[in-house]
Amino acid sequence: MTDLIHISVAWPYANGDLHVGHLAGAYLPADIFSRYHRLKGNRVLMVSGSDSHGTPITVEADARGVSPRELFEHYHERFLETQKAIGISYDLFTHTDTQNHHRIAQDFFLRLYKEEYLYREIQRQLYSESEGRFLPDRYVEGTCPICGYNEARGDQCDNCGNLLDALELIEPRSRTDGSRPMVRETEHFFLDLPAFTDRLLSYLEEHADHWRPNVINFARNYITGGLKGRPVTRDIEWGVPVPLEGWEDKRIYVWFEAVMGYFSASVEWAHNIGQPEAWKEWWYNPEARGYCFIGKDNIPFHTLIWQAELLGVNRIYEQDESARLNLPYDVPANEFMNIEGAQFSKSRNWAVWLPDILERYDPDPIRYYVTAVMPETRDSDFSWEDFVRRNNDELVGTWGNLANRVLSFAYKHWDGHVPEPGELRPVDQELLDQVEGGFETIGNLIEGVKLRAALQEAMRLAREVNGYLDRAPWFGVIKKDKTSAATTVYTALRSIDSLKVLLSPFLPFSAERLNTMFGYDQPLFGEQKIVTIEEEQRTHAVLTYDASRANGRWARSELKPGQRLGKPDPLYKKLDDSIVEQERGRLGRPID
Ligand code: MF3
Ligand code: ZN
Repeated sequence: MTDLIHISVAWPYANGDLHVGHLAGAYLPADIFSRYHRLKGNRVLMVSGSDSHGTPITVEADARGVSPRELFEHYHERFLETQKAIGISYDLFTHTDTQNHHRIAQDFFLRLYKEEYLYREIQRQLYSESEGRFLPDRYVEGTCPICGYNEARGDQCDNCGNLLDALELIEPRSRTDGSRPMVRETEHFFLDLPAFTDRLLSYLEEHADHWRPNVINFARNYITGGLKGRPVTRDIEWGVPVPLEGWEDKRIYVWFEAVMGYFSASVEWAHNIGQPEAWKEWWYNPEARGYCFIGKDNIPFHTLIWQAELLGVNRIYEQDESARLNLPYDVPANEFMNIEGAQFSKSRNWAVWLPDILERYDPDPIRYYVTAVMPETRDSDFSWEDFVRRNNDELVGTWGNLANRVLSFAYKHWDGHVPEPGELRPVDQELLDQVEGGFETIGNLIEGVKLRAALQEAMRLAREVNGYLDRAPWFGVIKKDKTSAATTVYTALRSIDSLKVLLSPFLPFSAERLNTMFGYDQPLFGEQKIVTIEEEQRTHAVLTYDASRANGRWARSELKPGQRLGKPDPLYKKLDDSIVEQERGRLGRPID
């Protein structure tokens, strides 16, 4: 049976480079999950893009003396390259400043307005007299009224994760000049969240059995604390215009439209592949399952507000009254990844930047380490010492050497071919059964988004193969008893060939190389491509995934004796201990 899997990945603000926090929080889990489902033969649609609007962009653009567009286009280009290099296999990674997204966000807005889920209200807002303008969310900071953190932003407190209204901040100050803003009146549209209370509660209950406890608890508490209407327009010049007369100088709030990107990007994808209706499968078929991969700071918008928007529009571009847009099936939010024991900080440059480390390390060792310490249930730590140790002991020691040793031996003694085994002995069959059992155990773990455990289990199976090779005859008997050596080597090769698939969602680049060394000529996965899309007035570059040549299957090896092998080559490199100090020395240094 083919499942329909929609994967929504948090849209990064295009105001700075991507770092391991992004990777650990959302992109890597989403990618592992999507690669697995594609191997299973399921129909995956994975979308995201650059979040190009809002104060995170304008604050940074102001600071650099460039326009918001120049800033976001610069980082958008870099996001495409970085994510291609680390192998995040989006069907579409676009951005929110496309005509398609603007149109859809405005259509959603108008629909919610028509359904009376948006209302106008005069709001009191912080206004800077020195700058002569309103100060939206990120232009203000102050003390969080909930947890007391004194660097809470006007829109959200990063310490306790609660969404805030800038007026609730204790002792607010302007981030531009530190002055104390005044309160002034301005009219805005509000989303009537309380109107959704019952529907949201029953939605949460429907999914309570498979959501992560911290995610469901957060969302439930949010509702039981009493939902309030939320302003969804801003006094700002950069963003999606409010599609109503008299509102020309206000914009739709960035968060309100960014989550709609999961939908608009699906529509854009369908359009780009020349099947403009194709998105409907994932959005209208009630059997389709949608997953939102996000960091924990994004929980309220992905468990309540996006759902309210979808419930509120109900259906769009669809005549059939019975059609209902699907709500996410799961929101497997990750916690945070600290760096060498301290919290990520952009301003202090306490970060591991992806474009930077990709210059020195291959993508798979990074993916391996970040998965091994993925913050699935609590905050975790990126430590360079642990990176080197796991690379050397686990990736190289347990897995890379295993593959290389056996392939080189077969290549040498059977003239570049898979040996013809004798009859399999009980030990051989036992090993194959164990390894092949991984398709179910590891598959179930990945489906439950327990990726750390899934990787651990795959590595345990690799150790089993190593243990088998310590005991079975191959090396020592090659001269005297070539058949029995052939049986061992064949069994090991088949196990490694299966493990290649089991590990491929985590380690796609090296799995692909290994696949070639095994002599297969079709790749496991599709190809990532950066392409330019033309709209009526502008063009934009996107990252896409072309699955046409992909031939992977989530199934045990059926390696044929006699199959021609490719030339074996080590999959991974050992890293020198000295890099630990070098890398630590880069942390916290001003970027030049
Ligand atoms: N840009 C936001 C962030 O970096 C995430 C937005 S996810 C979205 O925190 F879907 F809402 F866009
Ligand atoms: Zn707080």
